Amino acid sequence: MKIIDLRSDTVTLPTPKMREAMSNAKLGDDVFGEDPTINRLEEISAEKTGKQAAMLVPSGTMGNLICSLTHCGRGDEVILGNQSHMFYYEAGGMAALGGIHPHIITNQPDGKMLLSDIDSAVRGDDVHFPRTRLICLENTQNRCGGSVLEPEYCDSAAALAKRHGLLLHLDGARIFNAAVALRIDVKKLTRSADSLMFCLSKGLSAPVGSIVCGSSEFVAEARRTRKILGGGMRQAGVIAAAGIVALEEMIDRLAEDHINAKNLAVGISRIDGLSIDTSKVQTNIIYFDLVEDNRHMTDEQLLTGLNERGIKLLNLGPAHFRMVTHYDISSVDIDTTLTALTEVMKGA
Ligand SMILES: Cc1ncc(COP(=O)(O)O)c(C=O)c1O
Repeated sequence: MKIIDLRSDTVTLPTPKMREAMSNAKLGDDVFGEDPTINRLEEISAEKTGKQAAMLVPSGTMGNLICSLTHCGRGDEVILGNQSHMFYYEAGGMAALGGIHPHIITNQPDGKMLLSDIDSAVRGDDVHFPRTRLICLENTQNRCGGSVLEPEYCDSAAALAKRHGLLLHLDGARIFNAAVALRIDVKKLTRSADSLMFCLSKGLSAPVGSIVCGSSEFVAEARRTRKILGGGMRQAGVIAAAGIVALEEMIDRLAEDHINAKNLAVGISRIDGLSIDTSKVQTNIIYFDLVEDNRHMTDEQLLTGLNERGIKLLNLGPAHFRMVTHYDISSVDIDTTLTALTEVMKGA
């Protein structure tokens, strides 16, 4: 039985071209700046995102942490969304390791924080308050359904930050999904950020790695922070080689994942007992619910029924489920998933 793994786009395996590039990669010691493949990946990343410099890091979590630790000192405050990955899923790293105080603002259903909420969260100059230092955006916004922040919103948030003398960090784990969904150059989404993290190991299918981008000065400082965290990886050109293939060949095809996600969502909306807002599906992430008055079906039964049919998904809370489309999911897999869901919901 073929396994259709819709838990996350992080489950993607490297493509044959990536494996070939990995085995042929020219290598050196990256902590001495001597790995030519990493240097090339960093150049391409900086060029694509319109930033002066870029740096390979082991994971998105470490990339975000490096940015907050580089921008902020102990006792500084970061404004970020209550549904943001940095707040929700990164083990409180900024507080645990940096003594940084998170100030959370409600993410609206479309993934944005209201600019007025951000504005009122900025602290005044008072000895009682932590010093506000950084605002963090997330694009696409994972927990808000992979929703997309448009360039105008990002620019307005950056202008607000600037007005208050603050910095703007962008968790762009899936920034290329946002750019593809909006059909714009990714630079329009990154231009206003002082720092940016994006992942190679999600929809772009590389096995490992994320990239931190920013000014040359910022990235030089971020290299020190990476060293502190033990993130200097020596001959990591073996993974950077896959990252180069990811950036050169895997961005445009994200549009297929978005079409598959939309078709999956529309199919789910037609299944009795399930509910989904199809208008919220903009990229490759969908969330759906078991309908309240149809709760003869438990979360466990739905998961087990699908697992028995080779389909994996995430249960993110009572009656709440997530599916993510990616390179290893075809349109046929979407049809198979919808047939399985229909069967399971009918109790077949
Ligand atoms: C929005 C967002 N930011 C950051 C990360 C962290 O990436 P990693 O799993 O590489 O640490 C993720 C992972 O899913 C994510 O969805």
